[in-house]
Parts: sequence; C-alpha cells; structure tokens
Amino acid sequence: MNPRIKSMAEYEAAYQQSVEQPEQFWAAMAHEFTWKKKWDKTLSWNFNEFDVKWFEGGQLNITENCLDRHLETRGDQTAIIWEPNDPTHTVRTLTYRELHREVCKAANMLKAQGVQKGDRVCIYLPMVPEAAVIMLACARIGAIHSIVFAGFSAQSLTDRLTDAECKIVITADGAFRGAKAIGLKEIVDEALLTSPTVTRVVVLQHTMTPVTMVEGRDIWWHEAVSTCSDVCEATVMDAEDMLFILYTSGSTGKPKGVVHTTAGYMVWAWYTFNNVFQYDPGDIYWCTADVGWITGHSYIVYGPLLSGATTLMFEGVPTYPDAGRFWQVIDKHKVNIFYTAPTAIRSLMAQGDEFVYPYSLESLKTLGSVGEPINEEAWQWYFDNVGKGKCWIVDTWWQTETGGIMISPLAHITPTKPTFATLPLPGVQLMLVDANGNELEGNNVEGNLCVKFPWPGMLRTTYGDHERCRMNYFATYSNLYFTGDGCRRDYDGYYRIIGRVDDVINVSGHRMGTAEVENAINEHPHVIESAVVGFPHPIKGQGIYAYVICDHMPDHADQRKREILEVVSKQIGPIAKPDKIQFVAGLPKTRSGKIMRRILRKIAEGETGNLGDTSTLLDPSVVESIKNGALS
Ligand code: PRX
Repeated sequence: MNPRIKSMAEYEAAYQQSVEQPEQFWAAMAHEFTWKKKWDKTLSWNFNEFDVKWFEGGQLNITENCLDRHLETRGDQTAIIWEPNDPTHTVRTLTYRELHREVCKAANMLKAQGVQKGDRVCIYLPMVPEAAVIMLACARIGAIHSIVFAGFSAQSLTDRLTDAECKIVITADGAFRGAKAIGLKEIVDEALLTSPTVTRVVVLQHTMTPVTMVEGRDIWWHEAVSTCSDVCEATVMDAEDMLFILYTSGSTGKPKGVVHTTAGYMVWAWYTFNNVFQYDPGDIYWCTADVGWITGHSYIVYGPLLSGATTLMFEGVPTYPDAGRFWQVIDKHKVNIFYTAPTAIRSLMAQGDEFVYPYSLESLKTLGSVGEPINEEAWQWYFDNVGKGKCWIVDTWWQTETGGIMISPLAHITPTKPTFATLPLPGVQLMLVDANGNELEGNNVEGNLCVKFPWPGMLRTTYGDHERCRMNYFATYSNLYFTGDGCRRDYDGYYRIIGRVDDVINVSGHRMGTAEVENAINEHPHVIESAVVGFPHPIKGQGIYAYVICDHMPDHADQRKREILEVVSKQIGPIAKPDKIQFVAGLPKTRSGKIMRRILRKIAEGETGNLGDTSTLLDPSVVESIKNGALS
C-alpha cells in the first residue's frame, strides 16, 4: 500500500479502511520500515484498564529507520540545517551520513558514561543539532530520553529529574535567546543540589559562558566524544519498549511524564508527517517549535528523519534581530513547508506588515499551525501575507499524549476553512460527548472531544503512575480517551477545537495547569491562597489571571506582585508568570470548599454583569468585592 494519500477520494478510502480494518491498515504501513523481527500481533487494547499494545513481538531500533535506512539512497542529502540565533553566525548542516556518525559517537559516549538500555537520560539543551543527535543517541542504545524545555527553572528540572530517576543530564554552558545568553549549566547545578539520582553531567560548549565543572561529575561533551568510535550497533528494542518521556501539565498536581513507546510512535510520526505536510523529496521543511515540546520531538526530529526529509532547526526567536527574522530565514534557506504556532503569527502580525514585505517567500507552498486555536484574523493574515494567497494552511490539532497530529487538513488536498482543523486523519476515530458521556451524533454539534479507538502514536502510560494515567484520560467517560478539549463539528462535519474544558490553560501555545501555577504562587511566604484562571489575550491566546489572598493586604502592591512573579519564575519558569495579579480578601467557594472558577473566569474576562448562579456560594458577597477590585 502507498502510505501517501493524494486526493480526497484516497483520503476517504484510507479513512474507511483504517476504521473497518485497523490492523490490516497499520500493518501495511509498518511494513515500510526496517525491523529486526516482524511483530506477532498488530494490536491489543483495553481502554477501561488502559492497556494498549501495537506491533507486539516486533523488534527494531527507531534510529535504523531514521538514519541507516537512508544511507544508501540519500546519505549525502542534508538531514539537518541549523540556523543560529545570530544571523551573522555560521549555518551548520549535517547530511544523513554525518548525522549517523555523530549519533553513533554520542551513543558510544553515553555507553562510556555507564548509560544502559532502559536508563533515563535528561536533555536540557538549547536548539542546537546536538539536541537531535543526543535524542537519537539515546534511542540507539535503548536509553529513554526525557527532554526538559530549557526555559524551565531549576525547580522544574529537579521535579522532572526526580520523577524519572534520571542518571545523567546532557546540557550546555548556555543558550542564546535573541539578545540574551542564558546560563543553562548554572540552572542544572542548582537543580542537582536536590536531584540525588544524577551522577553525571555532560556539558556542550556553545555560548562559551564560563561555568563551574564539578570534579567527578561534570565532563565536556567535546572531550567525552573525542575518543568515541563512530560505529555503534543499534540495540534491539521491543516494539513496546519506552522511547521517551515528556512531561506535560494536567489539571491537577505536578506535570506528568507522558510515555511514548517505540514502534507505534514511529509509524504515527512518519505517517502523519508525510500525509499532513505532503512532503516531497528535496523540500526544505521548517518547524519553529523547540525540541523541548512534543512538536519538536515528532515534527523536527522523528517524523522528518523517518521520512528522509531535510529539517531546519532554528536556535533563535522570531523577533531578533527584528520581527522579519522568520521571513528572512525562509528566503535564506528556500523553505517550502513552514510550521509554527498561532501566538507567533499574532505577535508578528502585531509588529506590522512592513516586516514581511521585504521578503519574497516564494519558496513556500505549505503553512502549518499548531498548539492552540488559530483565530480567523491570524489565519487570514498568515494566508495573505506569508502564503501570498497561494499556500495551503494546515491547522493541526493534537497533544503531547497523541504523539502526532490527529485532526488536520492534508496539504493541497483537504479544502480548508479558517479556524477549522477540518477532518480526522486515518486511524483517528473521534466522538463528541456531552457532560454525561452521551454521544452527540450528526453534524452541527458541540461537546467534549474523545477518541474511541487506539491509534499507534497514543501514549501508553504516565511514568511511574499508570493509575494516574488511567484516571486522567480514561475514567471520565467509559471506554473513551478524553482529550480535555471542547470541540464543534459543523454542518460539513468539519472539526473546530474550542479550547480546554478542564483546568489547563494554554498560554502562547504552552500548556499549564492552573493548580501548578497556584502552588508556585503559594510558595511566597505572605501568600495564604490563590486561584488562577485563563483569560483571552490578544497575542498569547490565553493569559494568566491570578487572584491572591495574602496574610494582610500588601501596602506596596506592585512590589508584592514583582515578588510573586519572581517566585513563579523560580518554581516553574518565566512562561508561567501571571499577566495579571489581583489581591483579594476571599475567594468564591462553595459550601464544600471548592473554588468556583467559572465566576473567576468571567471576572477575568471583564464580565461585570451576569455571573450566573452564585447562590451556592458560602459567602456571595466575596464576588462583589472581587468584581470591584477588578475594576479599580
Ligand atoms: O487544547 C489543545 C491545544 O493544545 C493542547 C495540547 O497541548 P500540548 O500537549 O502542549 O501539545 C501542543 C502541540 C501539539 C490541546 O489539548 N491545541 C493543540 N493544537 C491545537 C490546539 N487547539 C486548537 N487548535 C489546534 N490546532
């Protein structure tokens, strides 16, 4: 079977087959890959206990499919183009052959440091090619990578290191972000004061920022690899062996480590990359995400490399040296497929069209969007000013847990409609349900988005706590995976994601749990309690609004706000800093002590009139005083 869909008729046929004969459908796709041993059973599953296995009994190594498989046919083709933060610095490129060598060396380096199959390796790196190299090096030897976005604080890093019991951290002296250099090693040093499982730190020299090397623990990457061979046999992995852990926020507690396994994830990343973007050999593909997020995993590294594509990695930010940077990079490297987030589009749109006009952008044919709902104005601006009215926009809906894209147009095939992610990919069986779990059938309905059948790229567990995983995703509605998103299916059967219906907020495409931010705020010694909600923000999509109770109303409110922002930065990272802080005397609580966030959300949205039923509140007068405080 040809995995690549070429028309709507082929999409419909593929979709139908994926529903009627899912095992045959995915088995045919999986046959495209190099296996050490073919699988015995394509799928076994049970959503209520949550046990899903794809390609059971199969053995393989994903890096053989990302690298070795391409050496004969495209060994000298560029695999990675690296564009540095500073446009005057030198671009780096790695061919498939060079990448293969680097990965083997790094894999041998990990082995020499005592890393074994099944060990967890934490990666805390800037957007440099070594980030991709070390991910693949882990996979080469069967170690499980856990990448932590290099914008997270020392405390967040500690939490993740401890939860996954990582043995080793791979970091750099620093990271460039626009005009700034951030000392990453320093952050790692602080995190390791309270991370007892880590015994080794490998440091990449990048910014040349001076660092302290701890004797017996810290080693330089360039020294450690210098003696390593560039030949490393790929470790044989079972299809369901863990490939990576990636922490993501939920509505309660600390972020959880979403676990993806080898074969299903591989098939999904590859299949979705090929079909959604319609990647043609020779295309230059650029995804602006960071490898610290799932988009970077699936659509900078694994999906493109599995497909033999040329993938561009960008170290910098969209506004440095000016707001034309993305467009300059597109012209410089003749990018054909560009994949970014609505928040970036909105912020660049706000800077003015004059930053786009100097660039021809004529190489572009496909534009992608991911991470949050794209509003109509941003969609249209992207289409007109970046795509010059001739590019397809693929609005791709998916999640860390889904491993890859679930709902999206296929570029140049699926008719698009602004703000709609359109149709599910083959293998994705969606269901909209009401609050009681009743299916909403037919079109023109709105409800909670669920998936009723396993797809190969789905998460398998959350690290160290399977029950939490089951409770989180499979206990809300019987026999369904619940996404946490609200969704509308319109008259044409097209899907439009409305946003989270749980206590997760999406700030600039970054997922954050309100409880997580509250816990961080509560670390301030004068804070008694807090409640966090999202509110509509013109650039970020959602902003963070925090209602805070202090031991007494602060005399210097601005000073206290600054302190709180500082605490949140330290606990989570700057991305979690509230946009607005309101000091309040009390919070609207029910008699059972539950905070009524619905009311807080409305006030944060600027609603002063109808706040709905407040009769169940313990003290309804609290609402008036919060409302008045919000106005002042
Ligand atoms: O609310 C949805 C939103 O992002 C959430 C998943 O976040 P995360 O796991 O960090 O993954 C982001 C990158 C895949 C979803 O539950 N989301 C993601 N893509 C879209 C979206 N909302 C609307 N439209 C999208 N295209």
